[in-house]
Amino acid sequence: MTSILFIHGFPFDHLMWRQQVAALSRWRIIAPDLRGAGAASGPSAPADYSIASYADDLIALLDGLHVQQAVVCGLSMGGYIIFELLRRFPERVRAVMLCNTKAEPDTPDAKRGRDALAARARQDGALAVADEMIPRLLAAGTRENRPDVVREVREMIGRQTVTGISGALHALRERPDSTALLDRIRVPALVVGGDEDVIAPASGMKQMAQVIPGAEFVLIRRAGHLTPLEQPLVVNAAIAAFLERLG
Ligand code: MLT
Repeated sequence: MTSILFIHGFPFDHLMWRQQVAALSRWRIIAPDLRGAGAASGPSAPADYSIASYADDLIALLDGLHVQQAVVCGLSMGGYIIFELLRRFPERVRAVMLCNTKAEPDTPDAKRGRDALAARARQDGALAVADEMIPRLLAAGTRENRPDVVREVREMIGRQTVTGISGALHALRERPDSTALLDRIRVPALVVGGDEDVIAPASGMKQMAQVIPGAEFVLIRRAGHLTPLEQPLVVNAAIAAFLERLG
């Protein structure tokens, strides 16, 4: 049975995939919390968090489950981790689903933003991070008409520890440039963008799909950065169709 490894984004945990886990029961789903996120413990020093260490943890998890190869689906930071897996462990990756992500590293300005958000988390806690981020995370229609989704996202971020948030921000600000990797990807790829995503804009996702050989691009309408939670039915259909084509 094909195994699907779901890698969550920042500052979330595996529950951001709950709609996919519920709907894709025909496949073996592996949806862990990354170090320091959700129920997973993590080191206390931010310097001990990196895209490489997240990738190492996931390979150790697959090893422990005796999964030699998985289809890997990642959102945003989860996508950055997929690029690392492709660089260092290509033989473990059967296919990729890249949701709401980008290959470029942080600009100096974005790095300053990471530092400011880490300071905010330390000073005011995780819910303050949620309130700062939600306007950029969710599409206008989600914020206006889906109070259940807004509450779910706010609570999920609010549950995260300041240590995990600070560690992830360190990993994000130090992440490598993955742009040169894109045209060397040799596994089937599905690229998913949200038409109202301001963090990983759909135009960039479309360009990414044009550079990855043979990649397929799906634009999710009325969705911001959290397509799997904002438009689960359409995202699930795109994922299932991609998995079925893989056979
Ligand atoms: C995420 O969803 O993982 C974050 O938006 C990643 C980022 O801020 O670069």
